[in-house]
Amino acid sequence: MDIEIVKPGSPVMEFVDTHTHLNDAKFKDDVKETVERARQAGVTRLINMGDTLASSALAVKLAAEYEGVYAGVGIHPEEAFDMTGRDDDQLAAWTEEKRVVAIGEIGLDYYWEKDPDKRRLQQRIFVRQIDLARQLHLPICVHDREAHGDTLAILKKEAKDVPGVMHCFSGSYEMARELLKLGWFIGVDGPLTFKNAVKLPEIVKDVPLERLLIETDAPYMAPVPMRGKRNEPAFVTYVAQKVAAIKGISLAETARQTTENARELYGLTD
Ligand code: NI
Repeated sequence: MDIEIVKPGSPVMEFVDTHTHLNDAKFKDDVKETVERARQAGVTRLINMGDTLASSALAVKLAAEYEGVYAGVGIHPEEAFDMTGRDDDQLAAWTEEKRVVAIGEIGLDYYWEKDPDKRRLQQRIFVRQIDLARQLHLPICVHDREAHGDTLAILKKEAKDVPGVMHCFSGSYEMARELLKLGWFIGVDGPLTFKNAVKLPEIVKDVPLERLLIETDAPYMAPVPMRGKRNEPAFVTYVAQKVAAIKGISLAETARQTTENARELYGLTD
């Protein structure tokens, strides 16, 4: 793939890493440097998603500290516990803080969870957090791993009036089309760049650029040519390059439209 070089005097490209985790322990020593490397690469905005109450708290703190750094707060399905009104209140209170723009990441993970009771718990807190997002007029960021049927069924029933993104999309064409019908966004990350990716590039070709979000899900799943390394927001540019190559458009156009999409969904202000 040809890498486009930004020439002096050409408009500067800006990217948004719409789903990342600088609140992960793997970044505990170098958040500042990582944010700086992102900016150098044109990734002027990024959104840290929470998994637990503790990681949501840290995402909120980072959003307050760093310009261009936003946060989502929520309980990830792998971290599911029986939430109470107090937990709802805590999440809601955080959404009043600076640059907190979403409830996420929330959803279902049947890859790691085989116990039917615990899967039901995941479903309960997924619906609960969708309800919270509706009350707060916030979008949701959804994780779905090997739970496509139930995830889509819950979204159709419970999230009619809640905008959102299916993050790290791994479903079928049909699922992508269903999500587009709901007015949803499709999030793509490192796996799009992997050599063995077959179905996902075809889906990305099919999905209108206006409905795609680029993300890293750092620190995991670094895109080619950084595969195997610790992933970081700067690398979202490789995901954007792959989207541009698949769609046969310029990197500049990809940057512009995906940034516009992130603004539209998350209402990014600065
Ligand atoms: Ni994530």
